[in-house]
Amino acid sequence: MRRLDQSPTEDAFVQNPYQFYTRARRNGPLFYWNDYGRVAAAGHAAVTALLRDRRLGRETPAGMARRTPDRLRPFQDIEDNSMLELEPPRHTRLRNLVLRAFTPRRIAALEPGIAALCHRLVDAFPGCGVDLVRDYARPIPVIVIARLLGVPDERADDLLDWSNAMVRMYQAGRTRGDEDAAVAATESFTAFLNGHIDERRARPKDDLISHLIAAEAEGDGLSRGELVSTCVLLLNAGHEATVHSLGNAAKLIIERGVDRGWLASGSAAAAVEECLRLDPPLHAFNRWAYEDVEIAGHTIPKNTEVMCLLGSANRDADAYSNPDEFDPDRGGPTTTTFGGGIHFCVGAALARLELRVALSVLFDRRPDLSLAEAPRYAPIYHFRGLESLRLR
Ligand code: HEM
Repeated sequence: MRRLDQSPTEDAFVQNPYQFYTRARRNGPLFYWNDYGRVAAAGHAAVTALLRDRRLGRETPAGMARRTPDRLRPFQDIEDNSMLELEPPRHTRLRNLVLRAFTPRRIAALEPGIAALCHRLVDAFPGCGVDLVRDYARPIPVIVIARLLGVPDERADDLLDWSNAMVRMYQAGRTRGDEDAAVAATESFTAFLNGHIDERRARPKDDLISHLIAAEAEGDGLSRGELVSTCVLLLNAGHEATVHSLGNAAKLIIERGVDRGWLASGSAAAAVEECLRLDPPLHAFNRWAYEDVEIAGHTIPKNTEVMCLLGSANRDADAYSNPDEFDPDRGGPTTTTFGGGIHFCVGAALARLELRVALSVLFDRRPDLSLAEAPRYAPIYHFRGLESLRLR
């Protein structure tokens, strides 16, 4: 297997990882990424197969967990109860509870509110130009997920601050300051959620937290820790990736001069899907091998981790013809943007709805937006998103 060097924090790579991915795939679907010290899957078929293979999973195998320092305990406690970090049977139980409360009907019912929010934000754009990340992409997903959970809109800024601090724990080269900020955010977030859960327990409403509490009360065994972790996961997973997708998609549409007709109602979903394929917000997820796993002529040894490179799989020429071109009519296999297998994104339908509505409203109201300066991606490889998107 070919070994490749590529620092995940090198600026040229952060700004455009796709050239490296093309080089990596030239030698087959797998390579050894020296900087991470592990095998990485870069081809679409290999990434999809690994995500679906039940001999691999996200949960750290017994005996392989690194000891968590006491000062990081509050953060780790949330992780330990998060469905994203678990495998069956606990994963199945938690995921089913969420899916029961996260119905297509409840998601569809959010559309008019999302459209109204988007119009309100466009109305408030400053006349001199706009930072689309700050003024549009960032507020929408957090308000939407807060409403779904039943958290008042006024708390959206707090949720953003807590979530931003917490996701810094996943970035390459995090500092002691990042860790302390993440723990402080976890403690504030947990205290807020505990109070909010108590309030909803006393006075339930038609929101997701009330439904999860009801499931807890029906004896489905959702502990308080699991309930808090699930809310944190939904709030964090529910906004961060969507903010980045919206910024990345708007940049792509403007930079490539995409015909705005694609955002008209009948074809908007396909255009959104193509933006999500070309520049997804999440690029790498790991899987532990619970036994030796053969793939593409190589063995992933038991108790080692393999990286699944979603952003690379989506540009694989063996899966998509002219993979770097924007072509919403292309067909081809499902992208890996929302993962695959048992951890497939719970919020995919909600994210697609938000993107479709937000992009349609934006380019309908402001069809002639143009770049005011070259946008730059933030140096956090796993979360691919723009620092800002200044537009005229
Ligand atoms: C464009 C936006 C989004 C993208 C690209 C995205 C992507 C993903 C991916 C790739 C995974 C799987 C990770 C893995 O297999 O290791 C995932 C899981 C998850 N996502 Fe999303 N997501 C988005 C939006 C959302 C939203 C809006 C929500 C909630 C409201 C959400 C909630 C979750 C949850 C709860 C999981 C864990 C599922 C499980 O472990 O079974 N995501 N997401």
